[in-house]
Amino acid sequence: MEVFYKKETLKAYLNKLNKQDSVGFVPTMGALHDGHLSLIKRAKKENNIVIVSIFVNPTQFDKQEDLIKYPKDLTKDLKLLEKVNCDVVFAPEANEIYDNRIKAESFVFDGLEDEMEGKHRKGHFDGVGTIVKKLFEITSPDKAYFGEKDFQQLQIIKKVVEKFELPIKIVPCDIYRENDGLAMSSRNVRLIGKSREEAPFIYKTLQKAKEKFEKEPINEIISWVEKEFSKNEILDLEYFEIADETTLKPTKHKKENTRYRAFIAVLADNVRLIDNIALN
Ligand code: PAJ
Repeated sequence: MEVFYKKETLKAYLNKLNKQDSVGFVPTMGALHDGHLSLIKRAKKENNIVIVSIFVNPTQFDKQEDLIKYPKDLTKDLKLLEKVNCDVVFAPEANEIYDNRIKAESFVFDGLEDEMEGKHRKGHFDGVGTIVKKLFEITSPDKAYFGEKDFQQLQIIKKVVEKFELPIKIVPCDIYRENDGLAMSSRNVRLIGKSREEAPFIYKTLQKAKEKFEKEPINEIISWVEKEFSKNEILDLEYFEIADETTLKPTKHKKENTRYRAFIAVLADNVRLIDNIALN
């Protein structure tokens, strides 16, 4: 496994690869868990060379505190990446990426950025768009892998590729969960005691909402979810929405030939957890 910290040395290495090689790219912020590894394993199956980036991107954090608290352990991450036969790791410092100007570009993602996470985390998707576009320029992959765990991010990345006409195939990957249903996340290590015990309630509620989706009107499902969370003393509901999977616009009435998803964000003792489920 080759590890690079500088973009020029990585680019020089990639330039020497056989032009027939298919390159798969998995961007991450490190603190790797089995959810990340599932993307990497899939990329390994579908490409000759797999690049993983590890970079805690400062421009996508709306709260400084969250950036500071973000777990970091490069040595442990590199061991995990060796185990899944990752070929290339890119782990730059912030100045290497941002040339001493840590600032996000402004994007228009045709309204995708105004929904859910966009409303609750100002500037977050400008930061994500900025870093992913930079990483795509450095790594020039054929395919890039993103988890449906961050479904809005995935749709935004598809928009970046479309808008800038990048020759990259975006591959969506299933949400990887703990045995009790909690979606894996680097933030889960910050869940302790009761918060960790209660956290699977999020996915259980999503599953029940899915059952209800066939027979009940959307506003009743939303009220039901809000009521369930108001009874829960540990978890605070930030939002629950049922939206068209492509536009991410919240929906009140179901339309034919449209795919819907339920999206949720919850606070468990100051740890922010998101999840989603396909409804049809
Ligand atoms: P990070 O949270 O480290 O996630 C990296 C990738 O792993 C994302 O595509 C995310 O959706 C995916 N992922 C995380 N948990 C998952 C799970 N339980 N199941 C499936 N996939 C999962 O997302 C980011 O980093 C950053 O925003 C990034 C795209 C790297 C830009 O900085």
